[in-house]
Amino acid sequence: MKKKDVTGFSKLSKQGKLEWVAQNYFTNAEDLVREFSGYWHQDTLIQKQFDEFSENTITNYYMPFGVAPNFLINNEWYCVPMVIEESSVVAAAAKSAKFWSTRGGFKAEIVDTKKIGQVHFIWNGDKQKITAFFNFLKTILIQNAKPITKNMEARGGGILNIELVDFTHEQEGYYQLKGTFETCDSMGANFINSVLEDFAHTLKQEAARYENFSEEEREVIIIMSILSNYTPECIVRVTVECPIKDIGQVEQYSAEEFTKKFALGARIAEIDPHRATTHNKGIFNGIDAVVLATGNDFRAVEAGAHTYAARRGKYSSLTYFSAENNLFSYTLEIPLALGTVGGLTSLHPVVKRALQLLGNPNAKELMTIAAAAGLANNFAAVKAMVTVGIQKGHMKMHLLNILKNMEASDKEIEQAKPYFEHRTVSYQSVREFLEIARAGKLEVS
Ligand code: MEV
Repeated sequence: MKKKDVTGFSKLSKQGKLEWVAQNYFTNAEDLVREFSGYWHQDTLIQKQFDEFSENTITNYYMPFGVAPNFLINNEWYCVPMVIEESSVVAAAAKSAKFWSTRGGFKAEIVDTKKIGQVHFIWNGDKQKITAFFNFLKTILIQNAKPITKNMEARGGGILNIELVDFTHEQEGYYQLKGTFETCDSMGANFINSVLEDFAHTLKQEAARYENFSEEEREVIIIMSILSNYTPECIVRVTVECPIKDIGQVEQYSAEEFTKKFALGARIAEIDPHRATTHNKGIFNGIDAVVLATGNDFRAVEAGAHTYAARRGKYSSLTYFSAENNLFSYTLEIPLALGTVGGLTSLHPVVKRALQLLGNPNAKELMTIAAAAGLANNFAAVKAMVTVGIQKGHMKMHLLNILKNMEASDKEIEQAKPYFEHRTVSYQSVREFLEIARAGKLEVS
């Protein structure tokens, strides 16, 4: 198929964009147009909202919105919304939530909620002079940013601190204005970036007329102003804990035997970055699903938490296990910069419902819920891996996907459930099952 470049694509209507894509990249253009326009929402106002979240929208991309009930977090019950495409994640979260709900639930605390943003700039001159200049500048920076910070201050947030950071040992003339912010219930990216760009403007303007600077020193080159998605001071800690004996028998293992294996499973993720990455991925199965359902930025959350996992110079797990004093105690500590106001939270109709389902939490509460979901998924994964292995449950949940892939009928899907009750699920075994079922030779045992 001949593909060509395009000018003015963004100016085309949605229908026009869809047709252009269909005609240039698909052999049966009409089919694609019918199929993709079939995913448009029938309510044109709602569809317009979806279209406007992004650009060049040609259709909607559906993801399952599931719920994991029975989450007891700080003595409150939650039914947690999760948007995820991977089978078994919601089931695992729900199973863990149920397990811990009879053992005290999840105990979560917010360690801090500060966020960071930086103005990166180049300045050459006498270092003592820039320190004196910064001391003079600080109050002006705060004063000039008042029109931006006024509303946030009324909500209890704003600029907490501004520091001058000297990076000239790494790069000639490189300094930062490092701002620390409290953004209350909003994730705060727009607020922080607006304040930083205002700081940059004030910095340049004040340096240009600072009396104690030489002509050369009056020149500040602003490189960029942007928040940091690394938020080591915006941290939530969530723990599940109970006497070891209360864990009970887990598959073939007594509570004590299971605890020993679990401890080693968690320890290995502290030691080895290969294992730590996958261990943390299991945490993000839960966290990202909640972050997506509640209209937050999962890329920001992932980027920040992975940096946190490497804060000691080696990538490690985000969890800690302890079995001291006969207590099974498992903790996740993670930076999570989340918001429950602003951004998608009040625009996306499904996000609004997800937040209502959670009782319209504030940002701190949402941090505890997302972290609990992360710990729940990770606990379920490690528990399965150190006992029966991950594939037993995973492939059971994946069975439906395989059957659908092989174009099984509804009747065959129903027949598959008892058939695979005590059989291992694999592509081969599902293929065999379909052959038997289609030959009418199915005997459920
Ligand atoms: C799969 O989505 C997640 C796991 O790999 C997590 C883990 O290994 O801890 C099962």
